[in-house]
Amino acid sequence: MSNNILKGKRGIIFGALNEDSIAWKTALKAHEEGAQFVLTNAPIALRMGEINKLAEHCNAEIIPADATSIEDLTTLFEKSMEVLGGKLDFVLHSIGMSPNVRKGKSYGDLNYDWFLKTLDISGVSFHKVLQTAEKTDAMNEWGSVLALTYIAAQRTFPDYSDMAQAKSVLESIARSYGYRFAKLKNIRVNTISQSPTMTTAGSGVSGFDAFFDYADKMSPLGNASAEDCANYIIMMFSDYTRMVTMQNLMHDGGFSNSGITEDIIAQLTK
Ligand code: NAI
Repeated sequence: MSNNILKGKRGIIFGALNEDSIAWKTALKAHEEGAQFVLTNAPIALRMGEINKLAEHCNAEIIPADATSIEDLTTLFEKSMEVLGGKLDFVLHSIGMSPNVRKGKSYGDLNYDWFLKTLDISGVSFHKVLQTAEKTDAMNEWGSVLALTYIAAQRTFPDYSDMAQAKSVLESIARSYGYRFAKLKNIRVNTISQSPTMTTAGSGVSGFDAFFDYADKMSPLGNASAEDCANYIIMMFSDYTRMVTMQNLMHDGGFSNSGITEDIIAQLTK
């Protein structure tokens, strides 16, 4: 089902690692909807070459970039404009990684060098992406920039560890840069707060299966899938959402406004 709502639009999609990735599903939909885009990921993530089949399907070029490196990002934005033949209308930041979570460090025993890495990769990189887009003058008027986040930015989920701080930083950057980019070029900047999703980054959090089931039962519509998230992203890149900016948009099947649900009560009284 395609309505060509991204026809003629150009963009960059960060973070398609494998078929489960939210960015992967987004690339498929963006292609279906008529967009042209560059795919990018950290050089180390491109080594497996899985992204090549996605690039081929979408007729997209792959340009490697570590999202923490200003040099890589500058090359990425400059080359993307060259390859796509003009300025960009959308950017998806779909990036997250915590060395502390990955290596199973408890929240009372964090490695602070790793903590800073978590903040840089998962939070500050969004500022770097936005600032580089501005400095290379890469965005068209009325463009749309999005990053993906999680409700652990507002509420405590113990196993989410230092990623909670990174997501708070990320959401705050969307507000501050959203203001700046609106004034500069009518560009909108938002975050989408997504349900737990079975991906490489998601299942890296310990106890993820229980976490996933709990959220599913606490959400009257159930957890939003990666594909649903991709649909929402496409709408946010389209001209139907031109006045939405500086928002943290909940995409969670109703989780964030539910106190308790019948499904949870049934589980507890079993
Ligand atoms: P994923 O593991 O498929 O994607 C994460 C991506 O980040 C990977 O492609 C990885 O290579 C990339 N990345 C890591 N370090 C990087 C760096 N230095 N430079 C450039 N790219 C780098 O997992 P998923 O779930 O698709 O994650 C996408 C986004 O969605 C992340 O921001 C994640 O925190 C967010 N999210 C995920 C949820 C979940 O349960 N899976 C829930 C809510 C938000």
